Amino acid sequence: MQRAISSARDVIARCQLLAKCTTEPGFTTRPFLAEPMHEVHALLTSWMKDAGMTVSIDAAGNLRGCHAASRPTALRLFIGSHLDTVPRGGAYDGVLGVVLGVALIELLNGQHLNFNIEVIGFSEEEGFRFGVPFIGSRALIGELDEELLGKRDAAGVRVADAIREFGLDPTRIGEARAGTDAIGYFEFHIEQGPVLEDLRLQLAVVEAIAGQSRFSVSFRGQANHAGTTPMRLRRDALAGAAEWICVVEKEARSTSGLVATVGRVDTEPGAGNVIPGLVRGTLDIRHVENGERKAAVQRVRQAAEVIAASRGLSVSWEQYLDQPAVLMDASLTQVLERAIARSGYPVHRMTSGAGHDAMIVARRMPAAMLFLRSPAGISHHTAETVLEDDVAAALTAGLGFLKEIEARGA
Ligand code: HGY
Ligand code: MN
Ligand code: MN
Repeated sequence: MQRAISSARDVIARCQLLAKCTTEPGFTTRPFLAEPMHEVHALLTSWMKDAGMTVSIDAAGNLRGCHAASRPTALRLFIGSHLDTVPRGGAYDGVLGVVLGVALIELLNGQHLNFNIEVIGFSEEEGFRFGVPFIGSRALIGELDEELLGKRDAAGVRVADAIREFGLDPTRIGEARAGTDAIGYFEFHIEQGPVLEDLRLQLAVVEAIAGQSRFSVSFRGQANHAGTTPMRLRRDALAGAAEWICVVEKEARSTSGLVATVGRVDTEPGAGNVIPGLVRGTLDIRHVENGERKAAVQRVRQAAEVIAASRGLSVSWEQYLDQPAVLMDASLTQVLERAIARSGYPVHRMTSGAGHDAMIVARRMPAAMLFLRSPAGISHHTAETVLEDDVAAALTAGLGFLKEIEARGA
């Protein structure tokens, strides 16, 4: 346990160091293949090589470190998470899962197991730059298609161009795909919510990840002079959007287990003395039951139409994500639960409201997740943190997980 504690201290220090690799000094902002990702790759590569791993970067910008098995023909366990962040995010969302993977290899202390271990740092999970999340993990499962490679960011740069600008070759995306030798995928992640803190628990096993629908929603009215246009003659796009946002919140508050967020609103022309003629907003709706999520989407779409009609506005929608809820693999999760119990920690199962790469990788191989407590239940914020003792607990359980997999003969 002592080694896990000192390793925990290193893990936290490394996450703090990586948090400084940012496009926005003073904050942690690191979108898909932004310049600071080169620095993240360099730091993780040095730690991986010091741990005796072979390191590569695939055509989707995923960093991939491999700890070989004790024999050549062996299966492969992936351990990973994402290296991108939301704007002004925290130091642990995603990154912690990759740094913990490297720390597990260090704790093996040169021992080679009867399976390969590949630690993977996905290039993009949040969906901030291009609107579509999970670019890195889609490449791992062979679903990074031409349509996604053609998506453009706010500056009109396509995903494929961003890959080239980073020094990679998008025509080689196919090589990123995992082989057929996968045992499964394991992801450490912070809970990003208040449940474990409230229950005074350090760890939790994720049994399912809530589904999510993400849209861009635009309300169009008529820009006009703020001083000369009587209220009864206005077609104010922002006032209409505001009325709708209150309905979205009311829907979510009145539907058990539903969360709905309008995270961003951009108005045009954006001057204080001009009635907004156009509003582009985002909508993020989640529920662990797909039927509930889809029904809620229908209700808020209907509400937008009614509000727009009552105000002489038009409303248009573009869907960026329709991600069903995903169950984690029962058998791999049982192995994880055994490891937690044998490490002396209580086994608590929970659902994840946050999306994770595991929900994408689970399409191709068994996936399991281990949550660490989020003090103050805060995430996607600079106050996001972890406790050293919880990181040590995760490392101890993670090592136990590797031993359990080895014992069952991989
Ligand atoms: O938004 C999410 O669910 C995750 O943090 N990417
Ligand atoms: Mn996140
Ligand atoms: Mn995350």
